[in-house]
Amino acid sequence: MLKVENLRKSFGGVLATDNVSIEFPRESLTAVIGPNGAGKTTFFNLISGAIAPDSGRILLDGEDIAGRRCADIVRRGIGRAFQVSKLFASLTVEESLRAALMSPAGKSLSLRGRFPLPQTRDRAWEVMTQLGLQDKAETVSGNLSHGDQKLLDMALALVLQPKVLLLDEPVAGMGPEEREQMINTVHALWNKGGLTVVLIEHDMEIVFRVSQRIFVLARGALLAEGDADAIRSDPKVIEAYLGKPREPRA
Ligand SMILES: Nc1ncnc2c1ncn2[C@@H]1O[C@H](COP(=O)(O)OP(=O)(O)OP(=O)(O)O)[C@@H](O)[C@H]1O
Ligand SMILES: [Mg+2]
Repeated sequence: MLKVENLRKSFGGVLATDNVSIEFPRESLTAVIGPNGAGKTTFFNLISGAIAPDSGRILLDGEDIAGRRCADIVRRGIGRAFQVSKLFASLTVEESLRAALMSPAGKSLSLRGRFPLPQTRDRAWEVMTQLGLQDKAETVSGNLSHGDQKLLDMALALVLQPKVLLLDEPVAGMGPEEREQMINTVHALWNKGGLTVVLIEHDMEIVFRVSQRIFVLARGALLAEGDADAIRSDPKVIEAYLGKPREPRA
């Protein structure tokens, strides 16, 4: 479904993505982890078309989308929530979602008949209800709590009905309760079926709990891959990511 092959991107002397190849099976929930500066966000920037790779392929259902424009990639079914939320600060939650449906990427979906204009309201409400944002429909985005801003950012991607959802640190900056809620929401979304989720996350407890497969990046390159048990006990990962060996949990 989504397959990245020999992807490479450098910024001056920094090789931010170093020959990375990863396959994300349809309807999987995969985590991409790694220390600060490992190249995780760059990896998402390449997939979502925010930046173009120096070389390599990004295959979505067999078609190479590497280097295409963001709106084109959104239209093909890749949605993304950001490490730092990108919102329409002066619009309410409902207005924001309807605006996303009318954006260059969303509007062409409506032109294809998926979202005729009167139905943007229905679709916005569907997603607000799904994410538990319905009580905030009239709240101006800039006035939302940090947690609700992260939810809205995810809603803005989801409203366009993506096949693949890229989440860059969805629980960053949240308190324990909000974290738990957010991760349950993400898990429920994925569990419903139809969505391939790729999660960048620093919280290892969350990563080990929800991901079927984990890929570890370090200095731009793929360091390890496996399930939670394999990653937890991989000496390379412990050294690069956790910094020091950890006592096994009781
Ligand atoms: N637009 C850019 N211009 C120059 N250098 C960049 C750019 N984007 C990323 N980099 C560099 O590429 C490397 C990888 O950065 P990236 O943001 O992808 O890491 P990350 O794994 O997401 O880190 P974090 O965990 O802190 O979010 C870093 O050295 C960063 O400084
Ligand atoms: Mg990042």
